[in-house]
Amino acid sequence: MTDPSEIAEFYDDYGEQEWERLDRDFHHRLEFEVTTDYLTDHLPETGHILDVGGGGGRYAVWLAERGYDVTLVDVSERQVEIASEKAAEHGVADHVETQQGDVRSLAFDDAQFDATLCLGGALSHVLDADERETAVTELRRVTHSNSPVFVSVMGLLASVTRMLRHAGKTEPDETELLPDLVATGDYDRELVERYGQELSVQPMHLFRADEFETLLAGELTVETLAALEGPFSQRRDRQDALTATHRSAIRETLATLREDRSVVDHSAHMLAVCRT
Ligand SMILES: C[S@@+](CC[C@H](N)C(=O)[O-])C[C@H]1O[C@@H](n2cnc3c(N)ncnc32)[C@H](O)[C@@H]1O
Repeated sequence: MTDPSEIAEFYDDYGEQEWERLDRDFHHRLEFEVTTDYLTDHLPETGHILDVGGGGGRYAVWLAERGYDVTLVDVSERQVEIASEKAAEHGVADHVETQQGDVRSLAFDDAQFDATLCLGGALSHVLDADERETAVTELRRVTHSNSPVFVSVMGLLASVTRMLRHAGKTEPDETELLPDLVATGDYDRELVERYGQELSVQPMHLFRADEFETLLAGELTVETLAALEGPFSQRRDRQDALTATHRSAIRETLATLREDRSVVDHSAHMLAVCRT
């Protein structure tokens, strides 16, 4: 298994910014809102939920506030601490357990959880393709049979389009890396060092929708693929200019389009609702 210490250190240093991420702007709020829509529709009414790569605990706290027991696992020691602090601040400490761990090797018995989450890209940070398969096997293994597993990852085409929009306008210019990036989907350590420093991105695998579905279908029944931001992935600048009317029109548009495969493929994040 590849050493996770670099990614863990990045998220240790990232600290509370990870908890704040989903409130940062309208784009990030769409990610949270659409994800929680699907959780609401597909989770069992009660139960014990595993949140892998749960970061500072945004989803764990949201679930605990709705009466679920949650176990949060993250590779970053600091994120695990923040998740415990946030659970206490929100009065749900009794319902949230936290522990450091890795999606590729989960320290739980088989079929221990009523549902499992791996949201916001923990799987995207697993650069090795075989290890991504191992991670999906682990997510399935620890979940009861005929129960939901929710996974969201970062999309390749949204990044390609974003880079093309900035072609010729930035230094270093990420346009140069596109041929390598689209060949593999890997924004790997070498590319991060050449291009990603200022963006503070971490090595990640960016997914096509078909590839994501094929990976999951090796272990799970994929019921739905959904775009979390869809066309709005290309409008991340000047969000302050959006009025409440604009926002509601964007939400309505996304609700109509979000399960269209081409929209999923062009979204910054894509969510899979699966069943064991
Ligand atoms: C972008 S954050 C997402 C946090 C939260 N799930 C959300 O959606 O807001 C990605 C998280 O995945 C964690 N992570 C990365 N690689 C991991 C691995 N191999 N196993 C478990 N967690 C991992 C990181 O430490 C980080 O907290």
